[in-house]
Amino acid sequence: MNITILAIESSCDDTSASILQNGKILSNVVAGQDVHRQYGGIVPELASRAHQQNIIPVVEQSLRLANIQKSDLTAVACTTGPGLLGALLVGVSFSKTLAAALQIPLIEVNHMRAHILAHFISDSPPTFPFLCLTVSGGHTQIVRVDSPYDMVVLGQTQDDAVGEAFDKTAKLLGLPYPGGPLIDTYAAQGNPKAFEFPNIDVPGLNYSFSGIKTAILYFLQNKTSAHPNFIQDHMADICASVQQALIDILLRKLQRAVRETGITQIAIAGGVSANKGLRQTLRNKQETDGWTVFIPPMEFCTDNAAMIAMTGYFDYQRNLFASWEVSPNPRMHLPLTSA
Ligand code: KG4
Ligand code: ZN
Repeated sequence: MNITILAIESSCDDTSASILQNGKILSNVVAGQDVHRQYGGIVPELASRAHQQNIIPVVEQSLRLANIQKSDLTAVACTTGPGLLGALLVGVSFSKTLAAALQIPLIEVNHMRAHILAHFISDSPPTFPFLCLTVSGGHTQIVRVDSPYDMVVLGQTQDDAVGEAFDKTAKLLGLPYPGGPLIDTYAAQGNPKAFEFPNIDVPGLNYSFSGIKTAILYFLQNKTSAHPNFIQDHMADICASVQQALIDILLRKLQRAVRETGITQIAIAGGVSANKGLRQTLRNKQETDGWTVFIPPMEFCTDNAAMIAMTGYFDYQRNLFASWEVSPNPRMHLPLTSA
C-alpha cells in the first residue's frame, strides 16, 4: 500500500502544504505573507488571518501538482509547535478536520525537529549520529541527532536567535523585514574585515546574541552622529562585517561541539542556513578540518511543509499518531526521546 501524506506548516508567516508518497516529496507549495513588511516584523494576528485565507488554495495546489486526490491520502501531518499560537491553530484545526473527515491518522510534528529531518529529503542524507546547527528566526541550537527519534540539544541561545540578530540589524540599517536575506545580498559585495564586532562568550555550547546586537546599535549611532550618510555609504561593508561576526560566533561553538563529541558529520538547518556566507564557511571546513558537511537545498532551509511531510513519514512508520485532543504548543521543545 502507498503511504501518502499531506503535510501542513503554519507556525509563523509561511503557509505551506506538501505531498509525500513513500518517502518522496511530490509537491511543496509555500505562500509567503507580504502584509508584515510595512510593520518591520511579524504581526501575529495578521499572520493567522493570512493563513486562514491561504490554507485551502495552498493545499489544493499541492494536491494538483502531485496529481493526488484527497481519497489517496493515508495520513495528515501538521506542525503543532513551536510557533505563534494563532498561526499554528489554523494549520492544526484544518489538519484535524481533514484527517477526521477522511478517517485517516493525524501526525503532530515539532517544527525544529522537522528542520533537521529536512536533510532526509535528499538522496544522500547524513548518517547517525550527526551534529546539526539549527539556526532560524526563533532558535539557535546545536543538536546531536542520534536517530530521527532521538535528538539531544547540546547548547542553545540564552537570549536572541541568530535570525533575530540578522533581522534587527537590518532594521537598524533601514532595510525591510525580513532583513536576513538582504544582509546576505549586500554582504556579497562588502569587506567582512571592514569593521569589527565583539564575539562575547557564554558558558558551554550555548550562544548569546544580545551583546553583539547592542554593540551594532552603538556602533551605528556613533558613526551616523559624525557622518549622517554613513549607512548608505558603507552598506555592503557593514553587512559583510556583521554577517562575518555572526558566523564567527556560530562557528566557535560548533567547533567546540565537534571537539567534545568527536562527531564530524555536520548539518545545518533552519532559515539562516540559507545564508551564503555561512554555507561557504561550512564548505571550507570540509577542506580544512575534514568535516562532512550537509547543507539543505535553499527551498528546504526556510519554512516549508516538505520537511513536515518527511518527519511525518518517519513517525508514520512507527505508528506515532496524534490523539484527536492534540492542540498547538507554541513553546514546544526538543529534546525528544526515543519512541
Ligand atoms: O526557519 P525560518 O524560515 O522561520 C523560523 O522558523 O524562524 O527562519 C527565518 C529566519 C529569519 O530571521 C530570516 O531573516 C532568516 O531566517 N534568513 C536568513 C537568510 N534567509 C532567511 N538570514 C540570513 N541570510 C539569509 N540568506
Ligand atoms: Zn523555521
